Amino acid sequence: MTLALDRSDVHLWLAFCADAGRELLHERYRALMTPEERARGDRFYFEQDRARYRVTRALVRSVLSRYAPIAPHDWRFDATAYGQPVILNPEPEAQSLSFNLTHTSDLVVLAVTRQRAVGVDTENITRGALLDVADRFFAPSECEHLWALPAEHHTARFFELWTLKESYIKARGMGLSIPLHKFAFDLREPGAVSLETLPELQDPAERWALRHLWATPEHPVALCVERGEQPEFDLTARRIVPLEGEQAIDLLASRRN
Ligand SMILES: CC(C)(COP(=O)(O)OP(=O)(O)OC[C@H]1O[C@@H](n2cnc3c(N)ncnc32)[C@H](O)[C@@H]1OP(=O)(O)O)[C@@H](O)C(=O)NCCC(=O)NCCS
Repeated sequence: MTLALDRSDVHLWLAFCADAGRELLHERYRALMTPEERARGDRFYFEQDRARYRVTRALVRSVLSRYAPIAPHDWRFDATAYGQPVILNPEPEAQSLSFNLTHTSDLVVLAVTRQRAVGVDTENITRGALLDVADRFFAPSECEHLWALPAEHHTARFFELWTLKESYIKARGMGLSIPLHKFAFDLREPGAVSLETLPELQDPAERWALRHLWATPEHPVALCVERGEQPEFDLTARRIVPLEGEQAIDLLASRRN
């Protein structure tokens, strides 16, 4: 079924790997992949990682086909010098799409927009806060904020910051070539998030609409969406088992700017 997606929309698709455990389904996922994708997927050492890779490829291919007249196995991708996947299919409906992907051990999230840059990031927070990572890489104001919190809040807040920072560098498409201390998120006010960028990044913070959500109590999800002519965006979220079924879910933003 085709889905309408206009410039004011952001669609979020969540695929929990445990929902897609059946072998037959994975055979269908493999059938959608290019030989290069199959080879890349087969290189993962653990079956859990190979399975997540198949879910990811099937998710991207089957979902993008909802927005453009292209069959799932006909999507062709290239990657920029920074590793960001780009759509090669020349059809205007395909070229006007932007998407970004993120995966953690048990969850894959895909964000899709029309003509607006988008970055999304999720993590599984059960591994605990990595405060030494924050000290080394985050902006000084973010570290100060983290250390001032009672210890029981460190993990959740660390991952809120981590996912927001990742969503920003992914929306920019430049990965870790943007130093993580050159932009800072302010999470001091409950329900709010604001971004500050150093002038040398030449990227005014007002360019970005931000949301922070929790897919489950263990899975923070951050979204960074280019405002363009649309100051805000309408978010729709669906939980999906690629090629099998989906349902709309209510993902309330825990923070927004
Ligand atoms: C590659 C990077 C953009 C994201 O990596 P990540 O957080 O480990 O992985 P995620 O699962 O969130 O995202 C991976 C997906 O991002 C996409 N991606 C890759 N390079 C990208 C780029 N330059 N810009 C946007 N998206 C990119 C790809 O679709 C990739 O999935 P795929 O390989 O299955 O197609 C980069 O930021 C990175 O290497 N991060 C390492 C993590 C880290 O050290 N973070 C510091 C704490 S803030």
